Amino acid sequence: MIKRIVIATRNRHKVDEIRAVLGEGYTYLTLSELPGSPKVVEDGDTFVANAVKKAVELARWLHEQGQGPAIVLADDSGLAVDALGGAPGVHSARFAALDRAGSENSSDQENNLKLLRLLANVPYPERKARFRCAIAVAVAGAGPVALTFEGACEGHIRFEARGVKGFGYDPLFQPEGYEASFAELGEEVKNQISHRAKALASVAPRFRSLA
Ligand code: IMP
Repeated sequence: MIKRIVIATRNRHKVDEIRAVLGEGYTYLTLSELPGSPKVVEDGDTFVANAVKKAVELARWLHEQGQGPAIVLADDSGLAVDALGGAPGVHSARFAALDRAGSENSSDQENNLKLLRLLANVPYPERKARFRCAIAVAVAGAGPVALTFEGACEGHIRFEARGVKGFGYDPLFQPEGYEASFAELGEEVKNQISHRAKALASVAPRFRSLA
C-alpha cells in the first residue's frame, strides 16, 4: 500500500484542502520538502494538460531519485468567462501580464482590474463565468500516465470587487445561488462548492483503490 502523497505545489492551503478530503492515513509532501524537483513550464492549452504535465514530470523525477513508492497529485485551475470566449482560462495567473513582455505572473489586483475593464459594458446576465479545476494523479515508477479529474463552479462576474477573504479572482466571482462574492463567503462555503472541492471529491473514491 502506498502511504506517501506528493503534491505538486508550494501552497499550504491546497495541501490542507487535499488532506481534509483524503484523510490522515498518508504522509503528505510538497515541493517545498523536495529540493531540486523539476520546475515545470505550464504551457498546455487546457487545465487537464497542465495538471498531467506537472504530475507526470514530478512522478518521473521521484522515480529517478529512487524516492520510493509515491502517488503524485497535481492540479491546475483558473477562471473561464463566457463573454471573453473562455479567457482568462489557462492564463488566469498571468492575465494582465499577457499585455507586456516577460513571463512572470501579474498581481491579483491587476488581473481583476483587467477583467473589469474588458467586461465594462457587459450586462449582468452575460457575465456568466466558471472556475475550473483539473487534478491529475500519477504513480512514481508507473510510466507517463495519469488519471484525471475535473470540477467546476458556476457563477457571474460582479461589477465591482467585494470582500477580503480568499485570493485571485474571488472578490469578483459570485457563485450561483449566492448574493455574495467568494471573497465575502470565505473558506467554509468555498470548500463546499468550489471547483477544487468538486474535483477532489471525485478523486477520493478512485484514490483508495489506487493507494
Ligand atoms: P493555479 O491552479 O494555482 O495555478 O491557479 C491559477 C490562477 O487561477 C490563480 O493564480 C488565480 O488567479 C486563479 N484561481 C484559481 N483558483 C482560484 C480560486 O479558487 N479563486 C480565485 N482565483 C482562482
